Amino acid sequence: MLLRFSLEADLIFNAAIPPEAEPVIEEKVTEANTVLFLRGVPRDAAEGEYGQITSWDVQENRLCLRIESGPYTRSHDALLRFRKQIAPVMGKLRLGVRGIDIRHFSIRLGDDVEESCIPRLPFISSVEVDEAGCELTLAMDLADLENKTPDRLINLIEEKAENAAYGGKGEHWELLFESKKRTGAYSGNPTEDMVARGWIRHGASRGQWIFAPQAVQLVRALEQIAIEEIIRPLGWKEMIFPKLVTWDVWKNSGHAKGVYPEIYYVCTPKSRDPAYWEEVTDYYKVTGDVPIEMIRDRIDGPIGGMCYAQCPPFWPFVKGETLAQDCLPIRVFDRSGTSHRYESGGIHGIERVDEFHRIEVLWLGTKEQTIAVADELHEAYARVFEEILELEWRRAKVTPWFMAQEGLVGVSETERVGTTDYEAYLPYNGSYLEFQNVSINGNKYPKGFNVKVQSGEECWSGCSGIGLERWVAAFLGQKGFDMADWPENVARLVGEPEEVFRFL
Ligand code: SER
Ligand code: ZN
Repeated sequence: MLLRFSLEADLIFNAAIPPEAEPVIEEKVTEANTVLFLRGVPRDAAEGEYGQITSWDVQENRLCLRIESGPYTRSHDALLRFRKQIAPVMGKLRLGVRGIDIRHFSIRLGDDVEESCIPRLPFISSVEVDEAGCELTLAMDLADLENKTPDRLINLIEEKAENAAYGGKGEHWELLFESKKRTGAYSGNPTEDMVARGWIRHGASRGQWIFAPQAVQLVRALEQIAIEEIIRPLGWKEMIFPKLVTWDVWKNSGHAKGVYPEIYYVCTPKSRDPAYWEEVTDYYKVTGDVPIEMIRDRIDGPIGGMCYAQCPPFWPFVKGETLAQDCLPIRVFDRSGTSHRYESGGIHGIERVDEFHRIEVLWLGTKEQTIAVADELHEAYARVFEEILELEWRRAKVTPWFMAQEGLVGVSETERVGTTDYEAYLPYNGSYLEFQNVSINGNKYPKGFNVKVQSGEECWSGCSGIGLERWVAAFLGQKGFDMADWPENVARLVGEPEEVFRFL
């Protein structure tokens, strides 16, 4: 991506700059252009690729600079370096830098960047497109430059360009393994049949089900298989992760980059004084309508959202810590509550819902440990699907969930880092249902939450989400409701369906 920065900025001093300061400035500009700005620049970088003060001028108390650069020692970075360098020498002349005025700041991009990849942000005051590419004029002040906002903006444009280039290829999906075909007698829609049998009913909220005892027997039996056949024997210990996730967690996990369209947002009352809420309660009592707008005025936030990916709210437990060698690899799991996603038009049966139940399995250690644990887990899952549940299933390498949830496409650049989806065949519609995943997340989470291991090696982590509704859908979708067709052990664990309700 062609990248050129052009910056005009004034260093503002506390008093007029005297003529005798000019040779000193000239000397410092030359020194900056030939030494200071070359620091960290690759040896083979061509002239023009790194920052240079191309002109300067004194106007009363202002030193007006023009700084041009390519991708290295970018103009804004050069400006900050130069300020630091010139301050002590001007100080000797009793001149102090009082501020910096950004008069003009623009970025030129090559024609390989589509206009649609330029974000609409308050910092971008104009975008001009011509044959050579486009030019962004930025409205940024010193604080924005110090905050590296220009670099983040470039990263974002690069990310959008990569996404656009990849988007045409569709979702990443690569088959890794396929079990043998198993044809059963059943080819019905398991959700419809569960509803017909009174096992489940729609909840009051969208994409939400109420599970009757018969359905829970199956859910708990499958959960028990996961725990007793896979999780406990491999040494996982249970934890309880929070289910309300605040922005700081999602900033560290990366979710703050992309999860907004699917969050169930959480707000807090501005006051818990009943008098503050009296108008709302009175309105409801008189009209029978809950006054949403009146409530909106009386709440703060959103402070975050309901549990989405399940593992991020674990990480504050280890944030900033160094883990002792003898406790690694750490293996923990959580099954303490629901996950929530606003699926919009995507809701489908019990397979795709807004509220779901999942066992989240999480591990961390060195790179080797993390990979080895994932391999063990894959083996255990395969055994359960083959020998206990007797499913028709397959494995595929897909876009890592942590990238997808940040709005990215494609695959990870690091070998072994990524997500493997487990998919089960659904005879009723001939499609495959993704019913769980296993991911090696590399150093992403340890880095995001600043977690280290004693040996000084890089800390890695992995996680695996076992979607209980999806296990149910996969199992019933293939085996149906006649327990005589079920693997004996599963039938025994589930027991005869207990009917509690009879409706008149
Ligand atoms: N955290 C992972 C996900 O959201 C596994 O559950 O997919
Ligand atoms: Zn996870």
